[in-house]
Parts: sequence; C-alpha cells; structure tokens
Amino acid sequence: MADKAKIAILISGRGSNMAAILYASKLPDCPYDIILVASNNAAAKGLELASAEGIATFAQDHNGMSREEHDAIMHDAVIRSGADYIVLAGYMRILTADFVQKWTGKMLNIHPSLLPKYKGLHTHKRAIEAGDCYGGCSVHLVTAELDDGEVLGQTKVKILPDDDADSLAERTLFAEHQLYPATIAAYVTREQNPDWILDQVRKRALALEETLERPSFGAPAWRVGNEKSGKYFAYFAHRHFGENGISLFVKTSGSDEQEALLDADPELYFLPKFYGKSGWIAVRLDRGNTDWDHVEAMLAKSWRIVAPIRLTKLIDIANEF
Ligand code: GRF
Repeated sequence: MADKAKIAILISGRGSNMAAILYASKLPDCPYDIILVASNNAAAKGLELASAEGIATFAQDHNGMSREEHDAIMHDAVIRSGADYIVLAGYMRILTADFVQKWTGKMLNIHPSLLPKYKGLHTHKRAIEAGDCYGGCSVHLVTAELDDGEVLGQTKVKILPDDDADSLAERTLFAEHQLYPATIAAYVTREQNPDWILDQVRKRALALEETLERPSFGAPAWRVGNEKSGKYFAYFAHRHFGENGISLFVKTSGSDEQEALLDADPELYFLPKFYGKSGWIAVRLDRGNTDWDHVEAMLAKSWRIVAPIRLTKLIDIANEF
C-alpha cells in the first residue's frame, strides 16, 4: 500500500467522531493514520481519549485572542505534526478565510444534515419541523462559506414519528461514525481510484465547447464538432490501446511537440503505441500528484487542434478583445 495519509483532527468537545475515525485507522488496510488531535478547549473529553491511545494532542484556548491569532496557532500545530489533512469533528469554531485557504482541498468536516439543507445550527429540529422524512449527515470539503464545500459523502437517517431533536441527533451519530471514516479513506486514496481520475478528465473535456463523449474501442473518449463530422480530441486509456496504467491521450501539433514533451518530462509523457505516429501524446494520470490545471490546458490545446474552424474562429475573435 502507498504511504498512509497523515491526519490531524480538530475537536471542541466529546469527540465521538474523532474516536470513530481513530479506531477505524487501526483496522488493517486503513489508508490513513491519526497523528494529532488538537482542540480549542483543553477540557475537551476527546483529548483525554486520544492521549490515552498514544496520539499526540494539542490544546489552545481561544479566549482573549483574535480569530486570526488562534487559527494561526492551530495551523502551526498541525504543520508541526506533519499532517497532510485536517479533519474537523465537532470543532465549534468559525474559521478565517486565510486558514481555510491554506488547507483548500485538504480539510474535511461533518455536518448533521443532508446538505445543502440546513446549514448552521439546530439541523435536527429544523428537519423535524419541516416534516422531512429523512435527516442525515454529510461529509464535505471546507470552504470559506459555512457548510458549503463539495459534498463527499452522505447518509440518510429515517425520521421516526415520535423523534425529537435529541433522539434524531443520537441516531444520526451512528451514521456519522460509519460515514466519516469511510469517506476520509475514499478521499485520501482518490488519486488511485480510476473512477475519480476519469471524472476529473470527463468534467474538463465536457466543459469545452461542443464536445460529447463517445467510447472508442471501449475507452472513454471525447469528440468536438457535431455527431457526424466531429473529431476525437482525447482518449482515456485504462487497460486500453495496449497500455498499462492510466493515461490520457491528447493531440499535439506534431512530432516536434511530441519530442519536446518527451524531453521535458519523460516520467509524465510517453508515446502511445496506437496513436503515436499520428501526433498524439500520452499523459500519465496514475502517479498520484497530477497537475489538473495542466491536464486541462492539454485538453484545451488538443480540442483547439481538431475543432472545426467555425468554433476556433469565434474564440480567436473573443480573445482579441
Ligand atoms: C456531531 O454531531 C457533528 O455532526 C457536528 O458536531 C457533533 C460532534 O460530535 N459537526 P462529537 O464531538 O464528534 O461527538
């Protein structure tokens, strides 16, 4: 297995989600380790448990300091621990945009509702009062907007006829304890997951003008132009075209560009066996640190090479302004 992801958990109180995540990390094959549990409250129950389980802990009360100062201290503690990810588990603090920005795509939270419903507090009460059939919980990426980032996983929890906010919260917690560790595990291994990689390519390919997906020899592939006369500008190779691993084929302007790319980064690029002669280059997508902006630029360039003039002309005109 690849190196395990290192996770710091931030808590404010009981820490039952922290405990669930921690004990999941002890199962064979769990792809993450908990290396720090930190809190804004030295009396948080969860700290005691973490430390008894041999996990490093850190506490810094927020009283008497600005939000910026406190976030900076927490950030420092996490950086010193060597964590790659922050997991918020009942961390009752509004975070500064600066702190959130430093952990973009690397900070997760759990919220006790089916987001985008019921952001903020009193989620169970609000779900019951609205007459919903289900409450639930969501794990999401943290963005500057409260409870607003991309949802990574959700579990629905049936609302029973005589539920009140407390009974629903209690039952939802069971779901949280299952959902959070599983979602963290899937998230930290997403770069090895072929479906996730394909989604990354697909959304970028389909964002280009007049594109559609049409498989080619069983491989997902994308064309530009209309049904009939459209042309392929990208192929996703995962055990296709006689190649190993996962790669994306995009069109180059010809052999000079192919050579230049191979020279510039022989680890990243290779000549695809089937399409190398007709000017295509393969970009490896399974190395774990893919630069998706770069892939996006390669797709756009390839699109530009094969797109009909009526489309590229419009773009050229727009670019002049
Ligand atoms: C959970 O209900 C979670 O959804 C919310 O805060 C609570 C934390 O509980 N974000 P615990 O400290 O993990 O027991």
